[in-house]
Amino acid sequence: MRRASALLAAGIALGSWTHSTMAASQEPIQPIEPAVIKEPAKVELGKKLFFDPRLSRSGAISCNSCHNLGMGGSDNLKASIGHKWQQGSINSPTVLNSSLNIAQFWDGRAKDLREQAGGPIANPMEMASTHELAVQVLNSIPGYRAEFKQVFGKDEIGIDEVTGALAAFEETLVTPNSRFDQWLRGDQKALTVRELAGYELFKNSGCVACHNGVAVGGNSFQKMGLVTPYVTENKAEGRAAVTGKDADRFNFKVPTLRNVALTYPYFHDGEAATLTQAVDVMGRLQLGRTFSADENAQIVAFLKTLTGDQPAIQYPVLPPSADDTPRPAPFVK
Ligand code: HEC
Ligand code: HEC
Repeated sequence: MRRASALLAAGIALGSWTHSTMAASQEPIQPIEPAVIKEPAKVELGKKLFFDPRLSRSGAISCNSCHNLGMGGSDNLKASIGHKWQQGSINSPTVLNSSLNIAQFWDGRAKDLREQAGGPIANPMEMASTHELAVQVLNSIPGYRAEFKQVFGKDEIGIDEVTGALAAFEETLVTPNSRFDQWLRGDQKALTVRELAGYELFKNSGCVACHNGVAVGGNSFQKMGLVTPYVTENKAEGRAAVTGKDADRFNFKVPTLRNVALTYPYFHDGEAATLTQAVDVMGRLQLGRTFSADENAQIVAFLKTLTGDQPAIQYPVLPPSADDTPRPAPFVK
């Protein structure tokens, strides 16, 4: 044990050797396991719902609009565009690996994916529907009725079945097999010397205190601006909005750094356009450390090794609306 941690502290020169003599479990980051799909029909139904814009009032916005699975499960916008082109209040986090989060949303106000999934449908700034209307739309579509019946054994579709299917699909959106995970599993050639140096810096300078575990984050709430206050015009309060405690002001869920190369721009306000900027801000504000350009680039090189296999999605064919399906209303007052 003692020897292992001494080796760990010895850093980059011993990095690969250290690794070969130690279990990957002793690293502060663990590999992602591939999804085990227990209920394929439910997952397939959830996928349809994820891509179905009829869950929105406009008939134009789906979950995938803001969590584009071709773009790392995010929209790559500072703030999302919602119903009637409204500007969202906060950056859209990725849905990839979100099942690994301790809670959902930047402030953790939803305890799990099921609870989360009901939110955007009824949020007037996002999909701007209501649960009643969304369920009415789905119940009017014969293809959905049959599929829900097959999966849930009920004649009537309710919001719980909708969020349950969405969550089942989202649980499959994990991204195993990143080059970093290959290295964790013992393939010493999976990373370059520079990427490994970036990982050592990431560990030794203290990033791992908050970004650790399987998702390299997602498992705690931490202060944004721990050492030096973060200045932003964004109104989000962080965890304090949930707990009501002043001490939780500006505590945000630590974002996962899995696939972070794909999920720009960064931070809850989307103010950091590049990884270089995000790493610089993190170093100064969270750790009181200013990285040289070369150190910063090494960390960025490491972060780019966290991109895993993206979910292979076959675009679903959605069952057509019926004559009595409530019509989309993109331009209602
Ligand atoms: C208009 C854009 C938009 C749409 C549409 C949308 N989302 Fe989101 N989503 C967001 C934003 C913005 C957040 C962050 C909100 C917050 O934290 O306050 C978010 C948060 C999430 C999270 C939490 C991730 C995390 O790490 O905390 C999940 C999961 C999620 N959305 C899934 C969905 C699902 C499922 C749908 C469809 C039913 C959906 N979203 C529709 C913008 C959108
Ligand atoms: C004290 C805890 C803490 C430490 C230490 C820390 N971070 Fe963070 N990190 C956070 C929090 C919290 C956020 C979200 C802040 C926000 O959005 O306002 C974040 C966000 C990020 C993001 C943006 C991710 C996204 O999707 O928006 C990156 C990249 C990042 N951190 C990298 C690092 C690096 C590199 C280090 C070390 C130099 C580091 N972090 C140290 C807590 C921490």
